[in-house]
Amino acid sequence: MSNNILKGKKGIIFGALNDQSIAWKVAEQAHAEGAEFVLTNAPIAMRMGEINNLAAKTGSQIIPADATSEEDLDNLVTQAMEILGGKIDFVLHSIGMSPNVRKGKHYTELNYKFYAQTLDVSAESFHKTIAACYKHDALNEWGSVVALTYIAAQRIFPDYNDMADAKSLLESIARSFGYHYGIKKKVRINTISQSPTVTTAGTGIKGFNEFINFSEQMSPLGNAPAEACADYCISLFSDYTKYVTMQNLFHDGGFSNTGVTQGVIEKFGE
Ligand SMILES: NC(=O)c1ccc[n+]([C@@H]2O[C@H](COP(=O)([O-])OP(=O)(O)OC[C@H]3O[C@@H](n4cnc5c(N)ncnc54)[C@H](O)[C@@H]3O)[C@@H](O)[C@H]2O)c1
Repeated sequence: MSNNILKGKKGIIFGALNDQSIAWKVAEQAHAEGAEFVLTNAPIAMRMGEINNLAAKTGSQIIPADATSEEDLDNLVTQAMEILGGKIDFVLHSIGMSPNVRKGKHYTELNYKFYAQTLDVSAESFHKTIAACYKHDALNEWGSVVALTYIAAQRIFPDYNDMADAKSLLESIARSFGYHYGIKKKVRINTISQSPTVTTAGTGIKGFNEFINFSEQMSPLGNAPAEACADYCISLFSDYTKYVTMQNLFHDGGFSNTGVTQGVIEKFGE
């Protein structure tokens, strides 16, 4: 399925770690739809080396950047414009990490140094990225910025831990910066709230396997796969969604509006 709907568009894609990453699928799809882009990830993630395969496959260059570092982001934005030969049309923020989740800290007993890191890596990095683009006037009018989020921002999913707080902040940043960048340059900023998906970040959450099955049962269309999430991102980067901004858009097979399904109810009769 390729209609060249991103032909002539230039972008920056954060967060492709391996071929399970949602950002990886977005990069493949963006390439298939005619976009040119640079790939970026934290310097530490480069060590795995898998991103080189994606770069070769999509004819892209890689610029390492820690998304919590304003200096790295300044460098990324200016280098991306040099490499791509002009301003940027789309940015994907596909970044999440919680040291509290990694170290098994319970939400009621958070380590606050870790908590600050969770918020910085998973949410403030979104503000810093957009702010770097704003400062360098790096985005074209009608440019599109998308970050990935999860419904734990609105409802409690206990094992999602402090990532829920980070996602609430992330979604709020999309609204607030969406206002300011919209007024200034007609840039649109949205978050996509994706179904649970088997990736390195996803499977780091405790009880993920049980949870993904529950979510599958609770979604009339089933869990949305990573490839479909990539398609949705592409539509938001395209000119077909020019007036969509400051939204949190659920891409979850209907999970967010389902109270219960017949399949789940029947399990209680067993
Ligand atoms: N997998 C799921 O179930 C799911 C569901 C909803 C939303 N999301 C969100 O999708 C996004 C992508 O995650 P994924 O599931 O593809 O997992 P992933 O592990 O493949 O991607 C997470 C990425 O964040 C990067 N990262 C971490 N710290 C960074 C830093 N300091 N600077 C730059 N990059 C950094 C990692 O290197 C990695 O590439 C995340 O925001 C995640 O919360 C995932």
